[in-house]
Amino acid sequence: MTHSGLPASRVPDSRDAPVLRWGVMGPGWIAERFTESVQAHTGQVIAAVGSRSLKRSKAFAEAYNIPAAYGSYEELAAAPDIDIVYICTPHTGHHAAAVLAIEAGKHVLIEKPIGLDAAQARDIAARAEQAGVFAAEAMWTFFLPKFDVIRQVLEAGMLGGITTVVAEYGEHFDPSHRIFNPGLAGGPLLDLGMYPLALVTEVLGDPLQVFAVGQPHPSGVNAQLSAIMTFDGGAQAVVNTHLHNFTPTSATIVGSHATLTIDGPFNMPGGFDVRFPDGTRLRYEEAKGGHVEGLHHEATAVARAIAEGRKEAEPRTLSASVRTLEVADEIRRQLGIAFPESTKE
Ligand SMILES: NC(=O)c1ccc[n+]([C@@H]2O[C@H](COP(=O)([O-])OP(=O)(O)OC[C@H]3O[C@@H](n4cnc5c(N)ncnc54)[C@H](OP(=O)(O)O)[C@@H]3O)[C@@H](O)[C@H]2O)c1
Repeated sequence: MTHSGLPASRVPDSRDAPVLRWGVMGPGWIAERFTESVQAHTGQVIAAVGSRSLKRSKAFAEAYNIPAAYGSYEELAAAPDIDIVYICTPHTGHHAAAVLAIEAGKHVLIEKPIGLDAAQARDIAARAEQAGVFAAEAMWTFFLPKFDVIRQVLEAGMLGGITTVVAEYGEHFDPSHRIFNPGLAGGPLLDLGMYPLALVTEVLGDPLQVFAVGQPHPSGVNAQLSAIMTFDGGAQAVVNTHLHNFTPTSATIVGSHATLTIDGPFNMPGGFDVRFPDGTRLRYEEAKGGHVEGLHHEATAVARAIAEGRKEAEPRTLSASVRTLEVADEIRRQLGIAFPESTKE
């Protein structure tokens, strides 16, 4: 225990991790942030990039000093000097890209959501197991040092019995963003809603009941949804996500002894408070930051897991990814949010 009364984070320094050779598949926005973060904070090697266009992969390779650029995902998956593929295509491409890489014998770190639905997530897990490769969803929040402390607080029972989790995530997007594209499984659920849903299911497990309400967007995607859930033992969770505008992206975990409030945006590096009814306040300080300050932790956790011969990442197991998507599937079922069949590659 530290002077603050909270445990210390057990997340090791990212510079100390064993080194993997990474291939980046789908050089878009998050691929840039991931590469910047890994190159700034770790000894990991971004060894190759694969794009649907050789021109785009060459431009990415040049911008980030990456030695190899491929003009197709197939070529990247087959590249002999790559240990692991970081899949960062739009959601609709995650399953097909994962199958490509796994069949080529590569480990995979797949952007969130790991698949469009729980069925795709289960299929990825089964294929990775059969091929004997590592697979994980890049739910980076759970790899941050602060989340290791939150996990210890929960496991130690410091909050008492958990009664309530309230979490939300809204953001503003340029009209050209893929979130407005129904063909790319747009809408806030898979881009933003995965964070509150992952938090809720991580803390409370499988819901007993889910009640969802939603509002459509003129582009044909869902614009906003809220869901209320109940859990074994009487706990409840409330989640909201939308593409209308920025929100604090707050998350609160309430227990019978104390309340844990994560500084917003809760999915990014930052601190949290544990408050007790007698006024005691325990504070965990973590420098506020964005993707570049945080994404390297998932990369190095994966590198350590693979070096130890593990096939999954403890902070985000494949069954946890499936469980979150099962809740997302149920919300979509209630709201009639169907992804076009063409997106189910
Ligand atoms: N962890 C996080 O904080 C975070 C943040 C943002 C996004 N993400 C996740 O990362 C994934 C990618 O998001 P992003 O914002 O980086 O997307 P993006 O900027 O649109 O980039 C996606 C890349 O995928 C490739 N791609 C393959 N098929 C495509 C298609 N049909 N349409 C458009 N592009 C296609 C494109 O590269 P080529 O055509 O050159 O191959 C494109 O550059 C999403 O699943 C998202 O949920 C995670």
